[in-house]
Amino acid sequence: MTRHFLRDDDLTPDEQAEVLALASRMKADRHGWQPLAGPRTVAVLFDKPTLRTQVSFTTGIAELGGYPMLVDGKLAQIGVRESVADTARVLGPQVAAVVWRTFEQTRLEEMAAYAGVPVVNALTDEFHPCQLLADLQTVVEHKGATAGLTVAFLGDSACNMAHSYLLAGATAGMHVRVSGPAGYEPDPQVLARAREIAAGTGGSADYVADPVEAVTGADVVATDTWVSMGKESEASDRQSPFVPYAVTDDLLTHADAAAIVLHCLPAYRGKEITAEVLDGPRAVVWDEAENRLHAQKALLTWLLERSRGDA
Ligand code: NVA
Repeated sequence: MTRHFLRDDDLTPDEQAEVLALASRMKADRHGWQPLAGPRTVAVLFDKPTLRTQVSFTTGIAELGGYPMLVDGKLAQIGVRESVADTARVLGPQVAAVVWRTFEQTRLEEMAAYAGVPVVNALTDEFHPCQLLADLQTVVEHKGATAGLTVAFLGDSACNMAHSYLLAGATAGMHVRVSGPAGYEPDPQVLARAREIAAGTGGSADYVADPVEAVTGADVVATDTWVSMGKESEASDRQSPFVPYAVTDDLLTHADAAAIVLHCLPAYRGKEITAEVLDGPRAVVWDEAENRLHAQKALLTWLLERSRGDA
């Protein structure tokens, strides 16, 4: 069966742990795995802006012995010039895997239905699961484990990062609290799914309106831009309601004394996070950015291995 990674809960708790363990081994031995030797090509498609995702996937695919084929969504116009399904039928026989950053999750699901090779979500409006693998790897590096720890995500709790924290954090056995202003609560279906997963892992998943309550005792505090890609026209509405959710030194006095701070980047100092926090000792965001490389290499290797024999 071809395995895809379209949302965080496409990996079971055991599978997520396997991928994270592989990521850590790959970090210690950058060229020790060559599943794409040939080179086999991986299509990397972008319908939205990128820096970290393009750099980490292209570098990672090259380190795995493959060829990263970048496809600019503006040129390909997937779903405009031809359907997602027809695009998938063109790509599938030529490439080992498809990595796609796009808008609606349904586009990615259609790609996966027709590509015949693993499809990876490199961010959609709904989820950013590769980022969460990197975030969990970073938590393990700094805290030794994930299970039983509390993570508070502050900001747009309806955004892709909040949803991925709910699903991936619950999968990792964490207590996940997402906190943001009224009108920006998580999708109830995602929250319900996270609770279902948490019931099996010993974690928990909650929306907490009060930011102080959300960060109280947290081992990990995470945030993200208040204006996700595609929401630029709402930028002026997405300021004052979010101010109480900014990650500041004051707010962090309520977190665990050894709390670490994560941010998927790009960061807007003075908005969702202060410069003092982002550039201070608790932030581990540069490790987090680097771990995109290792986590995604592990994910691709794992997906190709699990999908072997399909062709
Ligand atoms: N929520 C952000 C994540 C950026 C990596 C966005 O979708 O723009």
